[in-house]
Amino acid sequence: MRQILIATSNPGKLRDFAGAAAVHGIEIAGIPNFSSLPLVVEDGSTFDENARTKAEEYSRYIPGEIVVADDSGLEVDALNGAPGVHSARYAAPDLHGKEPHEADANTDDEANNARVLRELKNVPPEKRTARFVCVLAAARDGKTVATFRGVAEGMILEAARGRNGFGYDPLFYFPQIGKTFAELSAEEKSKYSHRGAALRKFLEWCDRRASD
Ligand code: IMP
Repeated sequence: MRQILIATSNPGKLRDFAGAAAVHGIEIAGIPNFSSLPLVVEDGSTFDENARTKAEEYSRYIPGEIVVADDSGLEVDALNGAPGVHSARYAAPDLHGKEPHEADANTDDEANNARVLRELKNVPPEKRTARFVCVLAAARDGKTVATFRGVAEGMILEAARGRNGFGYDPLFYFPQIGKTFAELSAEEKSKYSHRGAALRKFLEWCDRRASD
């Protein structure tokens, strides 16, 4: 079985990646000792920039191997694309009195969700459109060799629904199947999710390289 190294310590993301890759007979593994490696600062203004920086930095620790990193988040149209690249620390003003781009730690999912709901308080259902975006960057020896983008279009509910997944999943309603992402198993989510879509593009790229 082929194995792919992913630079993340987020168990929710690892589960999602594993769900999508299992279908292709590929095993997803975290980078060995990932938590003891110096943190890469994610201060880019786009998902693409952050994913590239992470993949490049972490690939230096494993010479010759392809290392994959992702950057992802939620874009809400009525909030001009926020939380966007700041999705993981959107509640920083509530919890630490700092803007998300100044915060030095992620904020918890519950607080991030509460802020999104508050910001959308008087926004009617038809204007609550949103999308999850995921960019995967594959790098080797400090250089990005390819990037892959996946998007899932949906809308933000007025209250959380479902207990699976992570992050904004309980608020993200996916009209195509009439459920939130938190009402799906990891395998189901991977069929529809931004991360699943980006990973499938990456896996197709791997297949093409293997047959070249
Ligand atoms: P990253 O680790 O910088 O990519 O931050 C991603 C943040 O975006 C997460 O902490 C979540 O808040 C949010 N996010 C990204 N993908 C998902 C998803 O699949 N479900 C729910 N929230 C997500």
